Amino acid sequence: MPLHVLEHPLAQHVLTHLRDKKTKPVLFRTLSYQISLLLALEATRDLATMEKAIETPLEPMKGRVLAKPLVVVPILRAGLGMLQPFHDVFPDVSVGYVGLERDHKTAIARSYYCKLPPLASARVLVVDPMLATGGSAAQALALVKEQGAIDVGFVCIVAAPEGVATVQKDHPEVPIYVGALDRELNARKYILPGLGDFGDRLYGT
Ligand code: PRP
Ligand code: URA
Repeated sequence: MPLHVLEHPLAQHVLTHLRDKKTKPVLFRTLSYQISLLLALEATRDLATMEKAIETPLEPMKGRVLAKPLVVVPILRAGLGMLQPFHDVFPDVSVGYVGLERDHKTAIARSYYCKLPPLASARVLVVDPMLATGGSAAQALALVKEQGAIDVGFVCIVAAPEGVATVQKDHPEVPIYVGALDRELNARKYILPGLGDFGDRLYGT
């Protein structure tokens, strides 16, 4: 499946401030909201619609409305920083949660929580700001598929080529939407140039 990289100038502007180490948590949360809103619109560009008859104040017309439920699955905890714009733009969205945490030494993610709504007939978007080795994303995508999801996408703010390759190998049918595709991982499996530890910067930990 293709990799979709945001090309809007506002995305580049917001990302630059998000990456800046001088950016404090309060602004970091606002910038996370803004880039996630742009990603939410990009990742739902092809959502199915169906006809709906209405009457404007002047005459009847056939409009179109969303045809399929949308489920967003943030990967805890950093994924929560991407959730609000989905709520704001898609008021009927359902939310599922997958808790995964990377071991600091091995960078291998361990699952500690999973609560998912019905997924089979929905468009499911798994969201996590950072796609580094791809281990967390691949695990989360496997979990939602085990629970019945068929129409699945993955949305992240910054990706490393290694993470994109892992997701494309393990889940070749899943489209990936990213704010930026960065250069590489460092020895500790952090993304370069990246933005550091997203969860720590979001929550001031
Ligand atoms: C970060 C990030 C991803 C994961 C990416 O979470 O939010 O979930 O690392 O790395 P990977 O692609 O190598 O798996 P972390 O495990 O630090 O947990 P947190 O969200 O609680 O900060
Ligand atoms: N998780 C983060 O928060 N940042 C990285 O660069 C890699 C994993």
